[in-house]
Amino acid sequence: MANSLFAFRSIRKVAFTSSASASVKWKGGVSLVQGASRGIGLEFAKQLLEKNDKGCVIATCRNPNGATGLLDLKNRFPERLDVLQLDLTVESTIEASAKSIKEKYGCLNLLINASGILSIPNVLQPETTLNKVEKSSLMLAYEVNAVGPILVIKQHMSPLLKVGGTGIERDVAVVANLSARVGSIGDNRLGGWHSYRASKAALNQLTKSVSVEFGRKKDPVICILLHPGTVDTDLSRPFQRNVPEGKLFTKEFSVQKLLNIINNIKSHDNGKFFAWDGQEIPW
Ligand SMILES: NC(=O)c1ccc[n+]([C@@H]2O[C@H](COP(=O)([O-])OP(=O)(O)OC[C@H]3O[C@@H](n4cnc5c(N)ncnc54)[C@H](OP(=O)(O)O)[C@@H]3O)[C@@H](O)[C@H]2O)c1
Repeated sequence: MANSLFAFRSIRKVAFTSSASASVKWKGGVSLVQGASRGIGLEFAKQLLEKNDKGCVIATCRNPNGATGLLDLKNRFPERLDVLQLDLTVESTIEASAKSIKEKYGCLNLLINASGILSIPNVLQPETTLNKVEKSSLMLAYEVNAVGPILVIKQHMSPLLKVGGTGIERDVAVVANLSARVGSIGDNRLGGWHSYRASKAALNQLTKSVSVEFGRKKDPVICILLHPGTVDTDLSRPFQRNVPEGKLFTKEFSVQKLLNIINNIKSHDNGKFFAWDGQEIPW
């Protein structure tokens, strides 16, 4: 098949409960990057296009006309990049993008939920103490960081879990949700950042449950959670002062590492939470 970019034949029919854990060979395919207007999501879209000479990328964002980085990419890869509008807080936009992708591509090989919020001026501030916790902050962080990504998986992956599709061959799909180490309950030694921590912990639990459900399906889907490290983006910028020397990564470096994890994912990795360096993070 000319535009077949995935060669997952080796793990087809391998149940996640099996001890077999053949390596997945990643060659492109149809990838959806949700939250691709800037930061890590934009870098994922860029590297998926640049590092594979075939394969299509669908990049979603809240405001396609204002996403200058994506518009530049679209100019460079007009045939291989589609940009769709999706706001995680507006469920109809999740449904509409899923419908559009289903009609055009018929399947998805990779879904990366890269969006996330930590702070928004005058709206959301990472709480340093319990007294600063507001219901509105907890709800907003939960809506964007946990509820939205799970609805994206529901709308986009569930109807597309067939092996094959419109001219594209695949034996397994991967869902990668961008989480954060601070979402680990076991690793929480400093406290604070209540809304962000709790929303990422919720994302972790929801993703784990989806991984169990998908693991029972005939067509394999591997769901993982990824911590990108502390990365120099808009999200981390207000909090970079205390980052130790050498621990603030470029988005290029972080995404290269995360794609390496995705490229080498094995069936027994379903439902795991990985840091950028491939180390597993405790729940
Ligand atoms: N940077 C770090 O150090 C770091 C560390 C740990 C984990 N992470 C996680 O990595 C992921 C990417 O972070 P980043 O550093 O790339 O952040 P970023 O540069 O601030 O980008 C955040 C992205 O999320 C999108 N977004 C926000 N609200 C949205 C909504 N309602 N609907 C759809 N998209 C929405 C933004 O779109 P707009 O342009 O429309 O706002 C933007 O594309 C996040 O999940 C974050 O929690 C980052």
